[in-house]
Amino acid sequence: MKVTEPRLLIVGLGLIGGSLAAALREAGFGREGARGEIVACDPDAEEIARGVAMGLIDSGDTRLGPMVKDASMILLAVPVLAMEGVMRELAEYLDKAAADVVITDVGSTKAAIRQAAERAFGGLPSNLVLGHPIAGSEKSGVAASNPRLYQNHKVILTPAETTRPDAVARVRRLWEACGAEVLEMAVERHDQVLARTSHLPHLLAFSLVDSLARQDERLEIFRYAAGGFRDFTRIAGSDPVMWRDIFVANREAVLASLDDFEAGLARLRQAVESSDSDAMLATFDRASHARHYFESLLNKTSYQAEYHMQPQGKLTYRVSPGGNAQGRLRVPGDKSISHRSIMLGALAEGVTEVKGFLEGEDSLATLQAFREMGVAIEGPHQGRVTIHGVGMHGLKAPAGPLYVGNSGTAMRLFSGLLAGQAFDSELTGDDSLTKRPMNRVADPLRLMGARIETAEGGRPPLKISGGTKLEGIEYAMPMASAQVKSCLLLAGLYAEGETRVREPAPTRDHTERMLNGFGYPVLRQGDTCWLEGGNKLVAGPIDVPSDISSATFFLVAAAITPGSDLLLEHVGINPTRIGVINILKLMGADLTLENSREVGGEPVAEIRIRYAPLKGIDIPVEQVPLAIDEFPALFIAAANAAGRTRLRGAEELRVKESDRIQAMADGLAVLGVEHSVVKDGIDIVGNGASGPSYGGGRVDSLGDHRIAMAFAIAALRASEDIVIDDCANVATSFPDFITLAGRIGLNVTEERVTEERTTEKAGEVGHE
Ligand code: S3P
Repeated sequence: MKVTEPRLLIVGLGLIGGSLAAALREAGFGREGARGEIVACDPDAEEIARGVAMGLIDSGDTRLGPMVKDASMILLAVPVLAMEGVMRELAEYLDKAAADVVITDVGSTKAAIRQAAERAFGGLPSNLVLGHPIAGSEKSGVAASNPRLYQNHKVILTPAETTRPDAVARVRRLWEACGAEVLEMAVERHDQVLARTSHLPHLLAFSLVDSLARQDERLEIFRYAAGGFRDFTRIAGSDPVMWRDIFVANREAVLASLDDFEAGLARLRQAVESSDSDAMLATFDRASHARHYFESLLNKTSYQAEYHMQPQGKLTYRVSPGGNAQGRLRVPGDKSISHRSIMLGALAEGVTEVKGFLEGEDSLATLQAFREMGVAIEGPHQGRVTIHGVGMHGLKAPAGPLYVGNSGTAMRLFSGLLAGQAFDSELTGDDSLTKRPMNRVADPLRLMGARIETAEGGRPPLKISGGTKLEGIEYAMPMASAQVKSCLLLAGLYAEGETRVREPAPTRDHTERMLNGFGYPVLRQGDTCWLEGGNKLVAGPIDVPSDISSATFFLVAAAITPGSDLLLEHVGINPTRIGVINILKLMGADLTLENSREVGGEPVAEIRIRYAPLKGIDIPVEQVPLAIDEFPALFIAAANAAGRTRLRGAEELRVKESDRIQAMADGLAVLGVEHSVVKDGIDIVGNGASGPSYGGGRVDSLGDHRIAMAFAIAALRASEDIVIDDCANVATSFPDFITLAGRIGLNVTEERVTEERTTEKAGEVGHE
């Protein structure tokens, strides 16, 4: 970045001004051959001499008048309360400065400096750009100058409407040349933000050190102070005058943030006094996660649960043909049950211990959302989560919108649960979720008396008003959806009377099973289930089985690949989820269940599958809701079967994480598989050949995890590599898919494509 200022005048040569000079020098400003001079004015002649000796400035003076001449940019780096005096003096000499001079400053509060400028100049000059570099050190003086002080730090500019855009652009260039990221915001916002993030912590550090020092006149106590004290109080060594000025200048905003802090401290004091360990844990747990998130932002690393950050770049899989599925494997925990374990655990009385929790992005987002509503949750540590339930009415209003990532399940179940709360809430999600239909839950919830606003066309975000009285309803669902059923049952917990839901076909019943397991009766007769509002949940242990939907990719991998023999352990085989087993068996798969048992209210078994030639079938329509998430993989089974497989009655597939009928059809077309699409299904014709079943090529998963994994296993029978774009969302349901795929014999490589470059991650995952 070229800075073309002919002469920069720094007024106040301390750490901040000196570091700017040092950074500009490193960036080539004012060196031989380049234009640009850096001069300084400071009341301390020794500082000037030091600046010259260090090679930071060309010359300097203790008087402002002689230095202003020919300056193209003047940077005011004096303490906040000294600004007005300097500006008044500057106003006198300005006619001597270059015609297009720009003035800027580095003060830590902006409203007070703006007022000072208005008084000093008789109005806010259009060439004055107020700014603030968010960088510093407890050290002061030019000797502490650091050319890297601003690198990757933020500089906030707070231009007024009347500020000249070219002046703003020049100040921006100056800071960018030092490696800073420049942003703009209003003066008032700046002062509020800084009061919370900088001024308050400095006040606390000063206060803590002072009170300890006062308790112990001889400062003996510091001998025993270790890392915690040192980390917390480093900034108490900062310049006292500078900070006195900041607190005088930003009084109102600091007082407001101090009030909030005092209220939080009083709550913690109360928790300590009454030995309320749940309250302590909830606060510490939220703080600890927030701190980790902050750390990840600083280090620019990804923090799985920190959902607001999208991974950098697009993830692509390249899968080579060959290999077969051999061995035994345990896939991660069931996504549906993992979401529900957090939800019901949070609302229960007592502590819920969860084993086998899916540490995928979706269920972690659910976990985080409950933390934001005041629930203390420990873990996850290797699938173990401990939830300190707050009871049916113990959730607290979250500070902002609840973000549920990619998960339709979370958004729909949350909407029912939040409709019954005393507080308002808002649910948001990622780009894919923002396109999915929410009226299927908003409409019946409104019939119960809930107040919900959706965006246009019934899409997220959802705004839910709290404090409304819900009434039980009898609702016949227009589609077979476990999410809608579960949403209404959760709202029904808070409703007066009975909530009854009729389903047009059986859908997964994890909500009903888990509610019953937590002592909340849910009854069922035929196609209708119901519960009565107003009861309570009692915590109990939850053992989450492996997700049959994740297992499906490997079931199909083994089913289509000669030589395969695979055992999948501890898989959930709830009768409302086993469509994939039924369909594969109808197609001729050699699949057996071993060691069937019940674990915590859910049936579980080992599934053994060996290769056997498949044949095309008409998929029985009653199997569709029982295999609703398994069709992307089943389409790959169909592409490897002899003859035509026909699917109908599956229109719901069009409103999943992608339009799964179209997304799969587009990918099958790339591979050269014969197929034809209809509104509610597809016909796929496999050649049943003993060699490769189709070609390779580049397919787009459209960010849908199940499309990505389906095409990954398809490569086992392709003649060429299959490259699959946009695979990052595999982490929503199956974070270690690539590792497990490699372990049983798939040849998968991950590539992350950023704007500038492609990085090979994780390397080749080959045969074992
Ligand atoms: C789910 C229900 C299904 C399924 C989704 C998870 C659940 O959705 O597709 O992945 O956990 O209740 P629908 O019930 O809307 O079909």
